[in-house]
Amino acid sequence: DKDIYILGIETSCDETAASVIKNGNEIISNIVASQIQSQQRFGGVVPEIASRHHVEQITLVIEEALSEAGLEPMELDAVAVTEGPGLVGALLIGINAAKAFAFANGLPIIGVHHIAGHIYANQLMQPMEFPLLALIVSGGHTELVLMENHGSFKLIGETRDDAAGEAYDKVARVLGLPYPGGPAIDRLAHESDDAVEFPRAWLELDSYDFSFSGLKSAVINYKHNLEQKGGEVIPAHVAAGFQQSVVEVLTTKTLKAAKEYNVKQVIAAGGVAANKGLRASLEAAFENEGIPFYVPPISLCTDNAAMIAAAGTAMFVDGQRGNMGMNGRPGMSL
Ligand code: KG4
Ligand code: ZN
Repeated sequence: DKDIYILGIETSCDETAASVIKNGNEIISNIVASQIQSQQRFGGVVPEIASRHHVEQITLVIEEALSEAGLEPMELDAVAVTEGPGLVGALLIGINAAKAFAFANGLPIIGVHHIAGHIYANQLMQPMEFPLLALIVSGGHTELVLMENHGSFKLIGETRDDAAGEAYDKVARVLGLPYPGGPAIDRLAHESDDAVEFPRAWLELDSYDFSFSGLKSAVINYKHNLEQKGGEVIPAHVAAGFQQSVVEVLTTKTLKAAKEYNVKQVIAAGGVAANKGLRASLEAAFENEGIPFYVPPISLCTDNAAMIAAAGTAMFVDGQRGNMGMNGRPGMSL
C-alpha cells in the first residue's frame, strides 16, 4: 500500500498554519504563524486585521511546511483546507491558497470542518476507537459529539450562550489580564491558595447542554459589589473560583454522557483542552471509571493545520473530494 501525504491549511481565526501529514497519523511538518501579539493590542481578534496577517503569511507558511517535510508538491496526494466555521475573510485566504496550490500541482482539494479537525488531532496521538465521545472546548465552541465511526458526528450537547473559551477571554478582560485569557486564568488559578465560590450552570437534569454567560455575570457582579464596598478583588481567587466552576460542569457532563452512551474512548479537543485544571480533572474522572481518555499535547489543542490534514486524510480515504467552487462557510455545521 502506498503512503498518503496530505498538505493541511488552516486560517479560520488568528493562526496561519500549514502541515504535511503521512497516512493520517504522522506529523511530517507543522508550521503555525500566530497573530497573538498583534491581536493583544486590540484585546481580541479583529477580522480585518486577521485577514491581512493571513495574506502576508500564507505563502511563506505553506513553503515552510513543504520544505521542512522535504517533499515536492507532486509527491502529495491532496490538499485539505478548513472550509468553516470561522471568520469568512480569514477562511477565504486559506481556501484560495489551497485552490491555487491544488490547481497548479494537479491535486484534489478537500474541505474540512474546523471542529472535525480539532477532534482528529487525537488521531495524531493514538488510533480512534468507536463509539467515541469528544468534548470540544474552544473560543467558538463547547460541544459534546458522539462518533459511531469515522466521519459520523452526532451533536448531543452544546452551549446555549457563550463558548467556554469565550467565557475565559471575557473574564480575563474583567480581571485586566491580556488576550487570550485562557492561559493567564489557568496560571493564576494554579497559583491561588483560595477560590471565590461561583455558581454552576447544570441546566435540566437530563441535558448535556452548557451555559457560561451566567457565570461570567456572576464574576462581574462579584467584582462590582466588592469594589463598591471598598474591598480588594484578588484576581487569583476569582480565577480559581471561575475555573473550578467551568471544570466541574465540563467534567460532570462529559462523564455522564460517556457512561450513558457506553463509549470505548473519550477525547478532548480545542484550545480550552489545553487547560491544566480541565485536563487533570478529566484524567482523574475517567481513570476512576476505567474509560480510556485522551487529550493531545497543548500545541495540537490550539489551532493548527496538522489536525486539518489528519481529518482531511480520513475524508480522502473515504473518497470525498471538494472542487474549485469551494467557498468559505462561516456557519458550517458538523
Ligand atoms: O481552538 P482555539 O485555538 O481557537 C478556536 O477555534 O476558538 O481556542 C482558543 C481559545 C481561547 O478562548 C483561549 O482563551 C482558550 O482557547 N485557551 C485556554 C487555554 N489556552 C487557550 N482556555 C483555558 N485554559 C487554557 N490553558
Ligand atoms: Zn479552533
